[in-house]
Amino acid sequence: MSKKPFYITTPIYYPSAKLHIGHAYCTTIADSIARYHRLAGDDVFFLTGSDEHGLKIQQSAEAAGITPIAYTDRIVAGFQNLWKRLHISNDDFIRTTEARHARVVQEIFRRIYEKGDIYKGSYKGLYCTPCESYWTEHQLDENGCCPDCHRPVQEVSEEAYFFKMSKYADRVLAHIETHPDFIQPVSRRNEMINFIKQGLEDLCISRTSFDWGIPVPGDEKHVIYVWFDALTNYLTPIGFLDDAEKFAKFWPADLHLVGKEIVRFHTIIWPCILMALDLPLPKKVYGHGWLIVDGDKMSKSKGNVVDPIGLIDEFGADAIRYFLLREINLGQDGNFSRDALIARINSDLANDLGNLLHRTLSMALKFQGGMLAAPEGESAADRSLKADAADTVAFFRANMEEMQLSATIKKVWAFISRANKYIDETAPWALAKDPAKKQELANVLYNLAEALRVIGVLISPFMPETAARIWKQLALKGFGSVQLADIEPWGGIPEGHKIGVPEQLFPRIETEKEEAPVWAGKTVGKGKQPEKGERESASEITFEEFHKIQLRVVRVLDAEIVPKTDKLLKLTVDLGDERRQVVSGIAQHYKPEELIGKNVVMVVNLKPAKLRGVVSQGMILAAAQGEDLKVLSVDMPIGTEVR
Ligand code: ME8
Ligand code: MG
Repeated sequence: MSKKPFYITTPIYYPSAKLHIGHAYCTTIADSIARYHRLAGDDVFFLTGSDEHGLKIQQSAEAAGITPIAYTDRIVAGFQNLWKRLHISNDDFIRTTEARHARVVQEIFRRIYEKGDIYKGSYKGLYCTPCESYWTEHQLDENGCCPDCHRPVQEVSEEAYFFKMSKYADRVLAHIETHPDFIQPVSRRNEMINFIKQGLEDLCISRTSFDWGIPVPGDEKHVIYVWFDALTNYLTPIGFLDDAEKFAKFWPADLHLVGKEIVRFHTIIWPCILMALDLPLPKKVYGHGWLIVDGDKMSKSKGNVVDPIGLIDEFGADAIRYFLLREINLGQDGNFSRDALIARINSDLANDLGNLLHRTLSMALKFQGGMLAAPEGESAADRSLKADAADTVAFFRANMEEMQLSATIKKVWAFISRANKYIDETAPWALAKDPAKKQELANVLYNLAEALRVIGVLISPFMPETAARIWKQLALKGFGSVQLADIEPWGGIPEGHKIGVPEQLFPRIETEKEEAPVWAGKTVGKGKQPEKGERESASEITFEEFHKIQLRVVRVLDAEIVPKTDKLLKLTVDLGDERRQVVSGIAQHYKPEELIGKNVVMVVNLKPAKLRGVVSQGMILAAAQGEDLKVLSVDMPIGTEVR
């Protein structure tokens, strides 16, 4: 029997200067779905990658004084490291700067042009560079700025190529209406239907005002504009131009998993392109919600980004994966909070799962020297445990097919609790004292180990490393090739099997009150001020040490008093390529409105900290003497490095 192909993609990410946990969220979801399908026996192709062209990247590279490719190489290496650290099991990673991609984009352009669906015209529009979006006059905000990021837009007019989207509007609409599964969740589907009904304009797909992109074939002063370039990535790694058999196998994609703000591009522009190529449309586009941090929408422009590598270093990849997948309902926005993460680690991972494993293995070791004897007979408790296992596996299969990740995890944890309760009900320590209960004890220990084998497989899409560790502690073999079908029948552990040594899976995390970061006292003006002369005696640092401190000119976009404080100001600052939020203890020296519009100097690579519950990402430099304080203000463009 040939395996069922399953092709799943994440968006290709923009090389943003700072990785944040929102990036990790989307890819973690996709990874757990891909892992589930492998477990179910499907032939999975899981693709992720990077979207590296465009004016914004070109400008960021210029600001950094390096070539665009050197700039994206460095950031993409960071992405690839993050995916490795997070145990992302992608089968390929596509970069839009690769030759294999350029070839596909140009070929698609050529085909659609020859068909007459691409034509040359002239583009007039309002462009927001940071968002890489064109807007019409009436879409602008009340200040005539970008409706998304509220920064100024530029008027542009240039010769450009257009793709005849208007020609395909009716067909796309009909497809959406007749394929209820195509856009998920349903709310996003309705949004898209309304959008198309307002009428589709032809899409501008080339630019002449910058050159960091794939040239239009035969008209090299144009580069192909971002979405036409980006979306086609999905075709390349599955053999679009060079492996017809592979392409026929994996296309159409089973699932494009994307954030909700780019559902429109995937369900309208992308289908139009595919229709122009006479290719079938993807089976499903799922728009997941956003990750919010401590109740506030997270984005690089907000300054409340959470660094995923730091979290992995601190808690391990699996704990973070577990939290994201368990706490957040896929279709909705969800909150990330460190406190909630720690609470989950302590209760679900250290306590429920960790204890079950530890109790089971230590009892098997203590009472039977680690040997699992063949079970014989069955008590009511045994029967109910086995029935629960079968029910959990069936639920898992049905719900993972429907991408009900959180519900599935909750169900698996209900089974873990059930198994812990089984220990309390059967009281193996009491059975061990009674020689007449030897077989009963053997049954209980076997069933517990078997329950853990089932659990190990069921958690593997979410926590692959932990699953492997459980498998290893059970001293079972073949974890890499285990299938869901292997846990459908009860009793997979051979009789006489000897289990391994128990090791703690997740240490409990002690939660003392969070200490204020050292630098907080300094900015806030609390604590001991340095004595005169103390600074001079401070030990010398090397040039390399100084160089680690990244200083940049940033513009204060917004400032407000942090509620219930009189010293703290919450500033929103623009770094040129991102926005951040910084808390600064200068409220007694500046009124918020005195700071807005000022270009000041900021330490941009300071470890984020929380001040009065508000995340601060960076530090504004100020000169202070006694009661007198002035921020360092420089008449230089935003983003300028200070050395
Ligand atoms: O849009 N919470 O790239 P991108 C959840 N290059 N998801 C988040 C998030 C957050 N806080 N922040 C970002 C692009 N994402 C294009 C895609 S595809 C052909 C081209 C998600 O780096 C976001 O929703 O801006 C999106 O799905 C993905 O990260 C990439 O975003
Ligand atoms: Mg985006």
